[in-house]
Amino acid sequence: MHTQPMLKDNALKGKTYVVTGGGTGLGKAMSTYLLQLGANVVITSRKLEVLQQTAEELEAKTGGKVLAVACDVRDAEQVEQLLAKSLEQFRAVDGLLNNAAGNFISPTERLSANAFSTIIDIVLKGTVNCSLAFGKHWIKEKQAASMLNIVTTYAFTGSGYVVPSACAKGGVLALTRSLAAEWGHHQIRCNAIAPGPFPTKGAWDRLLPGEMAKKFDFKNRVPLKRVGDHQELANLAAYLLSDFSGYINGEVITIDGGEWLQGAGQFNGLEIVPDEMWDDLEKMIRGTKGS
Ligand code: COA
Repeated sequence: MHTQPMLKDNALKGKTYVVTGGGTGLGKAMSTYLLQLGANVVITSRKLEVLQQTAEELEAKTGGKVLAVACDVRDAEQVEQLLAKSLEQFRAVDGLLNNAAGNFISPTERLSANAFSTIIDIVLKGTVNCSLAFGKHWIKEKQAASMLNIVTTYAFTGSGYVVPSACAKGGVLALTRSLAAEWGHHQIRCNAIAPGPFPTKGAWDRLLPGEMAKKFDFKNRVPLKRVGDHQELANLAAYLLSDFSGYINGEVITIDGGEWLQGAGQFNGLEIVPDEMWDDLEKMIRGTKGS
């Protein structure tokens, strides 16, 4: 069931969405579903060749219209061009999905200042650049719109070994809530999704290289004992971008099978205790009464 599309056919007919990082991975999966629901989609990343290939593939698969625009979200000028090209092709843009990200695992003391700021620039500054350019346009045109930011559950908790990403995603979450409050009266909504483990080749090769994938199997950390399916993330993203979620503003929705709470609860690790052992433990605990 969770692998099935959720919204009704043509739910996004006539809408146009811009998806940063839309050429690959989760951005591609979310773009595919927006197209299947009848929307036009602008996909963007640094690699035009990859984008053009994805655009062709998605148009053939969905019958929708895809515009591929090369854009480094770190560069405000290029983001302005992205807006201009999107408007030229589709006349109006109804929503922005800030999905582009950069990340790699590393002990923080091994990072150079440039390594740290590279991630901050892609994730935080890139999201800021896009939100500013599109937000200013919508406000000027008095157009209602929906912004959706992809964060992560460690935006709440912080996380070692991905510290630049944690700092940047924490910033994106603050941006989400801040703009929701400030731009709500312009009818611009701003929400976020915090996904847990949703395997993609790009992220997995960077975050779980080589033997790490076997040693550090993410699904074991999830109470539901499985990783996420791309369609269930796409369902949530399409809903949050659509008018069906019109009264949801400033929200972050976690979709992680309970993973981050599993890590947070002090005793959640007790799932490894077998039933038989609980009989003995109960006796021991009851035996401590009055002592
Ligand atoms: N460990 C330590 N430092 C690293 C590193 C690693 N694994 N990978 C890159 N760096 C450092 C580089 O050495 C450089 O710092 P320096 O100039 O002081 O040497 C800095 O980070 C920037 O690297 P560079 O390769 O020049 O940046 P880029 O803009 O070409 O690439 C990345 C950005 C590093 C995030 C790259 O992985 C990328 O393009 N990712 C995009 C996709 C992605 O990450 N998606 C998210 C998946 S979860």
